[in-house]
Amino acid sequence: MNTSDQPRGLDAETVERWKAEVASERGRRTPPATFPRLPDIPAGRYSDPAFFELEREALLKRGWIYAGHMDQLPAAGSFLIIRHTGAPILIVRGEDHCVRAFYNTCRHRGAPVVRADAGCARSTFTCGYHGWTYRLDGTLKAVTDARDFVGLEPACRNLIPVRCELFGNFVFVCEDEGAQSLAAFLEPVARYFRHLPLQDLRLVHQRSIELAGNFKIVLENFLEAYHFRLLHQHTTHRIFDQTGTSIHLWEHGHSLMLTPNRRPDWVDPGTIGMPEMASATEIERDHNPSYHIFPNMILPISVTGMPCVLLWPLGIDRTRLEVLWFAPDWGGGPRQSLWETRIANFDRILDEDISFVAPIQESITSPGFKGVPLNYQERRIYHWHEELDRRIGVARIPPPLRVTPMLADLVEGGK
Ligand code: FES
Ligand SMILES: [Fe+2]
Repeated sequence: MNTSDQPRGLDAETVERWKAEVASERGRRTPPATFPRLPDIPAGRYSDPAFFELEREALLKRGWIYAGHMDQLPAAGSFLIIRHTGAPILIVRGEDHCVRAFYNTCRHRGAPVVRADAGCARSTFTCGYHGWTYRLDGTLKAVTDARDFVGLEPACRNLIPVRCELFGNFVFVCEDEGAQSLAAFLEPVARYFRHLPLQDLRLVHQRSIELAGNFKIVLENFLEAYHFRLLHQHTTHRIFDQTGTSIHLWEHGHSLMLTPNRRPDWVDPGTIGMPEMASATEIERDHNPSYHIFPNMILPISVTGMPCVLLWPLGIDRTRLEVLWFAPDWGGGPRQSLWETRIANFDRILDEDISFVAPIQESITSPGFKGVPLNYQERRIYHWHEELDRRIGVARIPPPLRVTPMLADLVEGGK
């Protein structure tokens, strides 16, 4: 794409352009003539322990990651703990209703300031070891037996903050003080959410499971529709037309896979009667627009809400998969009974997706695994790997494990 053709957001012209692209995908017989032959993704990127450590550090310690939803922090003092990056991080809503994040590490001798994984503090946190007390904004309020400390300056012993910013009601954190702002990082993908009431979406459901496979085995499954025809032959494949899948690659590793419904008038029977996002366009109504927010967040949007799949590397061969559901407010009280069926339907598809994780993990340890040749409709995966190398810093990666940058001309808003 021409670099002057900057993304606009999901306005009427973009909706028409994206629909035309879907029609063109349906009609094509080969990849575009300009699409390059992609070198194989080196096999060692899935199995080399040193590469795994570089990857985890770059993605989780230096990038923005999803940490929670405002529904989990409903009142001043509400808090939750996340452990995805290694060090436990305390996320808390202050008296001023701002959300802040801190390392959950007492400035005295390092005990966790908060022991519960979630809850609501009154106006302070008290460390359970010796009783140092912190305000919700992380400042040290009181030291037990302060008379016995010589030269202790309380103002220098506040909880250590972690960067914390919001995208709608989604809370993100970043441990790297030098990283760009969340808003800058989310450009341009965030533009395509601007017409949606992100601020009003509620957290409907949350669960997580541990999988016996490398993080990328799981992630890459959600970056392509190539597997629909076989793996989802009785589910997704019946609903969506994979031949019309149109892909957008964006800066910062973000991307979109837009797959049309087989029948434009199809409505998921499990959603009939659920509140809709009135501002949704034909893109959300007649397609499955599956957004990927780098590095690990998959958001396939529908007019009645969206599941969110998050993937967290636990070890070189272990991954935590979290599924969240966000949806327009149904007007208070417990969630509608329709949700039980809808979540169960999605979980059935998810079970198909993850059925291959452990078997692939086992087979990629074989000398028979030499590398990964990716095709045109799998190019989001290559895009993801290119971004990973930029994040790590190419010079830090052993040459046999690098991916050769190939897709710069296809990145919208790219440099
Ligand atoms: S470690 Fe927290 S008060 Fe001592
Ligand atoms: Fe799938």
